[in-house]
Amino acid sequence: MVTINICILVVLLGKFNSVYSTTFNIRDYGAVGDGQTDDTNAIVKAIAKCMEGGGVLYIPTGQFVVRSSLNFKTNYRFTISGDGWSSVLLWEFDDHLLVILSQDGSELPQLTIRDFAITSSAVAKSLEKFAIYTEDLVQSHIEHIIINSNDTKNFPVSSGIAMMGVADTNTIRDVIMWNIKGTGIQIGYGSEIRILGGRIVGAGTRFDQSIGIHCTGNNGGVHVENTDIIGLATGMLMDNSSGVGSNREIFISHATIDSNGRGLVIRDNSYVSIIGIWAASSTIDQVFVDENTTAVLSISGGTIFNGGVYECPKLYSWCNGLTVLSGTFILNGVEVRNNNGRGIWIPNKSVTQYQIIACRIFANGQGVNVTGSSFMITNNVCNSNKLPNTISGTESSIVLNNLGC
Ligand SMILES: *[C@@H]1O[C@H](CO)[C@@H](O)[C@H](O)[C@H]1NC(C)=O
Ligand SMILES: *[C@@H]1O[C@H](CO)[C@@H](O)[C@H](O)[C@H]1NC(C)=O
Ligand SMILES: *[C@@H]1O[C@H](CO)[C@@H](O)[C@H](O)[C@H]1NC(C)=O
Ligand SMILES: *[C@@H]1O[C@H](CO)[C@@H](O)[C@H](O)[C@H]1NC(C)=O
Ligand SMILES: *[C@@H]1O[C@H](CO)[C@@H](O)[C@H](O)[C@H]1NC(C)=O
Repeated sequence: MVTINICILVVLLGKFNSVYSTTFNIRDYGAVGDGQTDDTNAIVKAIAKCMEGGGVLYIPTGQFVVRSSLNFKTNYRFTISGDGWSSVLLWEFDDHLLVILSQDGSELPQLTIRDFAITSSAVAKSLEKFAIYTEDLVQSHIEHIIINSNDTKNFPVSSGIAMMGVADTNTIRDVIMWNIKGTGIQIGYGSEIRILGGRIVGAGTRFDQSIGIHCTGNNGGVHVENTDIIGLATGMLMDNSSGVGSNREIFISHATIDSNGRGLVIRDNSYVSIIGIWAASSTIDQVFVDENTTAVLSISGGTIFNGGVYECPKLYSWCNGLTVLSGTFILNGVEVRNNNGRGIWIPNKSVTQYQIIACRIFANGQGVNVTGSSFMITNNVCNSNKLPNTISGTESSIVLNNLGC
């Protein structure tokens, strides 16, 4: 009786597996993973099977050479998963590596891309080529990926992850990118996009084309939490470069924006809210709002420091802490210190209704150099700045209860 039952169970399991098995191991389709054999065709075959009805494309431990784009085009849910950083795709051509699109241009829902490494090698890449390029991705996770290079001098990483089209409710979690020469993460037309943890590390030049996180227009609800953005020309950029309109709400908490040419740059009408800013060691400005915007910037807590610590070729127009050329802002409870240029620089009369409250502004080249109208500067402590402060436009403003400012 027992034996018969087990037999039936085995038969049932066998049938269950053959009908419902949804894992497509690229080795089963001929991928070798020895770091030398071209595994492109084998992986393409496994992907084709996976796209027929969804499932898991599994990248086991190994170094799999890829020499042309891997296209994922389906309306089914699928997962791309590896064993961790021992599962490596060697990116050996000059185009996007993983290209993920929906079948018919509608939304592509509920994907998980996780637990493997992408290593740029063998071929130099154009800056706009991404390791993971997606369009119309929604309700999806990209997590625990490392994107790096095995020859940083000759084959640095061009760009990391793109979410183009309409991107909605996606999370990029603990993704590490090393030696980015193009753009780390590019988001166009997104909403509820979370970038959590991880690091985006540039090539350390500070004056090339590189951008850590680029919101290219009409993004609302982008959250960046605890991510480290370091060693790029621009740490984080908000602009309307895609032409679909200004970004909307951007939230940054306890991220580190460090050692860039410029740290955070706003060139559109974004509302940017920062809690616990860490903006350090950038050369031109740590935080910069360009001309002709109606941007609203709110910074609460944290520190803006060491502007121009690597070099300061244009003292007092570079190496600044916070530079605002248009729009308005609130700076509340922030330490602005050790910037070689100006701690806070507001050179344009058109910046109005801003508030600098309860900040400690010390050991900068100049502490505060501001104009504008209808502003409030209250309850701050300014000390040990090299040049005296210049505050003009005070007719319509309140400057009160400050120590040394
Ligand atoms: C990088 O990987 C390629 C294979 O894509 C290999 O031929 C090369 O030797 C590796 N380079 C280094 C420095 O490990
Ligand atoms: C965004 O860019 C497009 C194309 O350049 C332009 O038509 C539009 O006015 C811009 N919108 C904003 C809000 O700047
Ligand atoms: C701001 O607008 C003025 C006048 O249209 C233009 O000359 C200038 O280039 C603009 N600045 C930026 C950064 O777009
Ligand atoms: C303050 O900034 C203005 C430009 O906005 C500049 O002309 C002036 O020299 C600065 N003041 C000092 C003391 O550096
Ligand atoms: C704002 O100030 C900067 C620095 O002095 C200057 O280059 C720019 O032309 C000014 N913009 C406007 C609109 O006045």
